[in-house]
Amino acid sequence: MPGKERGERALPGKGTGSKPRTKNAGGAPVPAAPRETKTSIEEVKVNENLNRRSTLLSCQESSADLKSEQAVRPDRLGEYIGQTRLKSMLSMSINAAKSRGEALDHVLFYGPPGLGKTTLARVIANEMQARIHLTSGPSLERPRDIIGLVHQLEEGDVLFIDEIHRLSRIAEELLYPAIEDFVIDLTTGKGHATRTMRLPLPKFTLVGATTKAGMLSNALRDRFGFVCRLDFYTIEELSGIVARTAAILNVAMEAEAVEAIARRARGTPRIANRLVRLVRDFGHYQGAEIIDGATASAALDSYQVDALGLDVTDRRLIEIIIDNYDGGPVGLETLAATIGEDSDTLEDVWEPFLIQRGFIQRTPRGRMATAFAYQHLGRAMSATVSSKILLNSEVKQLDLFAEKLPPQSGQAEV
Ligand code: ADE
Repeated sequence: MPGKERGERALPGKGTGSKPRTKNAGGAPVPAAPRETKTSIEEVKVNENLNRRSTLLSCQESSADLKSEQAVRPDRLGEYIGQTRLKSMLSMSINAAKSRGEALDHVLFYGPPGLGKTTLARVIANEMQARIHLTSGPSLERPRDIIGLVHQLEEGDVLFIDEIHRLSRIAEELLYPAIEDFVIDLTTGKGHATRTMRLPLPKFTLVGATTKAGMLSNALRDRFGFVCRLDFYTIEELSGIVARTAAILNVAMEAEAVEAIARRARGTPRIANRLVRLVRDFGHYQGAEIIDGATASAALDSYQVDALGLDVTDRRLIEIIIDNYDGGPVGLETLAATIGEDSDTLEDVWEPFLIQRGFIQRTPRGRMATAFAYQHLGRAMSATVSSKILLNSEVKQLDLFAEKLPPQSGQAEV
């Protein structure tokens, strides 16, 4: 909050994620990063479990990513590349909240993994000069998890709950009054001796993140002032991110190399940054002082990432639809069983990019390969497949329309 030295006080509980106040080369203090509390180390474990098929192009965060992302992730809105509309809405609302000396309204980020939901939560805390507490839905199972968490909150703090769609029913119900009226109801005793006490809480900002907005209850979704969808990044935006990361990591890279990486990053900054590190290592191994386009392409080829960013798993997924199901439609569960992946991971991690870039279509009867997918994989389409695809292009329009969640009354949808 304005005028207050945030992040100087020791936090009760597990303050494992806090960044110390640092000095730059000249010894002058640089602005303190917000204090972070990790309420549970479960968060990392959950992510690792989700991504059983851990490939180069997975959007899920590995522990290696976690460490190196800290060095390159943007701290302020001004450094953040992409999500332009969302940034300007956030900037306006943050300025308004700061000028009133109030906490920012609660924010929900939804979209595929790796697009910057956690980074934006941290950026919000930085911009508000507030502390951030990081946790995830699955680690808030019991009432005491929630009570312990809100007990640590101070006026203006940001509480980030990743995978908020996985909150237990009990946790969700305890959270409602906490986020709506900034109070928490504590129940003590049993049977006739049951007592409920209502305790006030400081005004804080809840930032929720989910890959499955559709799985959030309406009651919870309605309590967010802003509901923001994160989109895949354009090649230009990813080029900006790659160039920025290369500069921070002191890797000399020609523009062609930057673009080659951006093109193969599946529209996802987390993947772009991972590819920068791989290309850097490949360049070192080859003794290249400056990474040029040919070196970057050779590095990416050696990891079997094709020119449109598809990896082995992506291609296999499309090939299965083409070869085993005559181009589809094939149901999600059947497809998941055929490739040996769980349907949630298939739907949240692998499909969004393939759908967004037009390789597969989600239809009411299942997934279909598109004409573009046939073309990209160099496959010929039979007449039956062509007419199936044509028929479904109408359905696709309706489907895309239905996917977009309508905003609730009084809620900003970005
Ligand atoms: N690193 C990861 N995401 C980024 C973004 N959106 N802008 C700048 N650097 C990033």
